Order: sequence, then structure tokens, then C-alpha cells
Amino acid sequence: MTGTAPWPATAVVEGRSVTSIGGVGLAGLAESHGTPLWVVDEADLRMRCRAYRRAFPEVAYASKAWCTVGILRIVADEGLWVDVASGGELYTAERAGVPMERVVFHGNNKSEAELRMAAGLGVGRLVIDSFDEIGLADRVGAATGHRFRAWIRVTPGIDAHTHAFVRTGHDDSKFGFTLSLGLADRALERALASDHLAVAGVHAHIGSQIFGAAPLAANTEVLIGVLAGWRDRYGVTLDELNVGGGMAIPYTHEDRPLGPAGYGAVLSGALTAEAARLGFPVPRLFVEPGRALVGPSAATLYRVGTVKRIPGIRTYAAVDGGMSDNIRPALYGAEHEVAPAGRRSDAPLEAMTIVGKHCESGDLVREHAPLPSDLAPGDLLVVAATGAYTESMASTYNRVPRPGAVLVQDGSARWMVRPETYEDLVARDLPAGPAAADG
Ligand code: LLP
Repeated sequence: MTGTAPWPATAVVEGRSVTSIGGVGLAGLAESHGTPLWVVDEADLRMRCRAYRRAFPEVAYASKAWCTVGILRIVADEGLWVDVASGGELYTAERAGVPMERVVFHGNNKSEAELRMAAGLGVGRLVIDSFDEIGLADRVGAATGHRFRAWIRVTPGIDAHTHAFVRTGHDDSKFGFTLSLGLADRALERALASDHLAVAGVHAHIGSQIFGAAPLAANTEVLIGVLAGWRDRYGVTLDELNVGGGMAIPYTHEDRPLGPAGYGAVLSGALTAEAARLGFPVPRLFVEPGRALVGPSAATLYRVGTVKRIPGIRTYAAVDGGMSDNIRPALYGAEHEVAPAGRRSDAPLEAMTIVGKHCESGDLVREHAPLPSDLAPGDLLVVAATGAYTESMASTYNRVPRPGAVLVQDGSARWMVRPETYEDLVARDLPAGPAAADG
């Protein structure tokens, strides 16, 4: 069977095991490329990009989800915009050949160097996040002769019912201008007064892993209200509206999120209805999903090293990665589906706790994963939906090198990110200290 959520579209699922992705057998892939390994289903990733482009007028990929040259090349090749939130992400976009006019630059604390870089490269949109940034962008614009096309980021006070750590839409937020206090109006006034900012629209991102369309539709309505209010009070008719990302994905077979067509229909409907009600021309609608584009396209392949049974208490199976390549279970209590990879087993299921190899009890991959009771050292496990916020949040804790990532398609695998080496780990270390004898 293929295309069974939460596995990538081309994953072949036999019984409870995932045997191949992109026509590449996982057992052979583990032999040839080693573990842990991110396995990226290129067809699935391109399919998601296309589905979002069909569902929305303009789609920007939130590159914080996974920012590598390979991923950005695919996404840009599919005609998406790219949202970056730091100089490093911007640099990666440039190295990937992303057209700079399709880059959106976010961030609540962009430095002068980053703004100069953005001016020099000619990024498509600058998302203004604070009063200090208006001043800084104005000075950088004056010094470089650049005029930024800008969106003003507002905090619309919408509770998207999500995990506190990933919620950004409240009045009390480090991001954007609080609408309810009139701060967005003050920001518009200041931005309009700058010769180096050309205000083009409004932006708000209200949170992540939002299952229903209602909070996003509410955000759309709030934002078009903002544009209509600005027309009435300041006489400017801005025609770009970005409702952010946050569309949910399935992490387990029990998750049933809406999907791009569902989100698209509800948001476009809300936009046109509210625009008509306010007598405002329908603006160009942008969304900027990250997770929904790359999350389900990748799975992580691990090899089990030890199985520890504590009679009457718990069975632990430890894999060769963990919190350094996927911090989400430890940080957010996230649950990613786990399945045996490669080999089929008909042994009865046993609830196991899958842990990593790090020196920390919180180093969890998945609690209570139902796995074949004959699971043994050397077996492979595959963890679903690890394309978003895993590699991009990876660390080298315990000096465990970060895994590589392969793109699989039509039976072949090619490296997209090479595995980190021990040499990479010490490459930045300088021989400082009393024993240094460097002249
Ligand atoms: N736009 C802005 C301004 C954002 O801050 C974010 C995510 C996105 C778009 C994309 O959101 P998405 O569609 O991926 O939900 N590390 C957390 C997620 C943090 C999201 C931060 N901002 C996680 O692993 O769940």
C-alpha cells in the first residue's frame, strides 16, 4: 500500500512496516547510506508545493522548517516564494539560486548587517516587525539607496489553540504590532513617512499546527479589516495580505488535518466575502506554510542498538540518533509515528519507549510505540513526518554528528545534505588555553 498518512506519498507500507520510499528499499538504503538518515521523498515534496500553489494565489515557503540548498532549489523550482528569517537563511536562499524578488524577509530583530544584505540582494518583501526596525530600515535604505517593499506585521490577538511554545498571535507577543492597542496604525504612519519603505501590505502569523481553518479564516478577516481601516483613515489602498503559515499535518495515522484545498477554499471564501462586505478590492492573498510543505515528505531512518526490558515497568529501545536530530518530542511533547523499516514481523505488538543515544533522560523519540515484540538490536525503525523543524533545529549535543539527508525518487537516492563528520565537529575549535603553543 502506498500514500498512507503519515508516511510520504511513495512509501510502501506492508503490514506494519515501511519497506521503501521513492522506490528505494529502506534496508538497502541504511546499508549504503548509514543511519540515522533523513529520507526525503522528492515526488511528495513537489506534489505538496503544487497542491498549495493550486489552492492559494501566492505561496511562500517558510524556510525555517528546513533550510538547505537542496530543499530551497526544489521549492523555488516549483514557483514558490521563500520566507527567510535570518541572514543565514537569506544566504542559503541566495546560494540556492532563489530569485530574490520572491524572497520575504522576516524577523523580530534583524540586524543592520542583515538589512544591508537584504538591500544589496534586493529581497522582494521586508516584513516590518517593530518601531526600531522602521528606523533602522530607513537608515539602511538611505545609506544604500534602496527602497524596501514592506509588509507591516501585526499581532491580531487570535488564539489558534495550539501549543504555547509555537503560538505567536497573541497581544502579548514578541512579534509585530499589537492591533488592539492601535500600534499597527502608528507603525503605518511611521512607515509611510519613510522614503525608503514602500508599504505594500499587511502580515500576521497566528500559530502552528492549526487543524481547522477557522482561526486562519478569522485572521484573514481581521487583516482585510486592517487594510480597509488604513484606506479609510490614511487614504492608502494596499493590495497584499499575508495570513502566515500554520497549516497542520498528520504526525500519526490518527491525525486528520484539512489539507491545502480545504484551507484554500475557506480562506479565499473568507477573503472575498469580507472584502465585499467592506467594499474593499480583493487583495493578493499570500500564505507561508513551512511544516505543511516539507514535514510529511521526509522520514528518519534509525537503527536500534539496544533493547532494554525492565520487567513489569517498561521496554526501552534505543536508536542511533535522538534529540540532536529531532528535538520536537523533548521540546513540545510532539508525537511522531514510528514503524519498523525494511523487515516484516508478525510478532505480537508490544508498547515500547523509543529513546535516543544522548546522555539525558528527556531524550525521547516516542513513548508507547506499538512495535513487534521481537524487535532486536540491528533492526531498523522509521519515524514519520520529520521534514519540518528537525534538521533545522538539530544540534551536535554529545558531539553526535548530525545525520545526512537523501532525496529518493524513482528508485534512486542522492545526497542532499552529507552527514556531518567528527572532523566537522572540531573544525571550529581553536587550540586556546594554557597549552596553546601557536606563537
Ligand atoms: N510564518 C511565520 C512568520 C512563522 O513564524 C512561521 C513559523 C511560519 C510562517 C510557518 O509555520 P508552519 O506552517 O511551519 O507551522 N519549531 C516548531 C514550529 C515553530 C514555528 C515558528 N514559526 C515546531 O517544531 O513545531
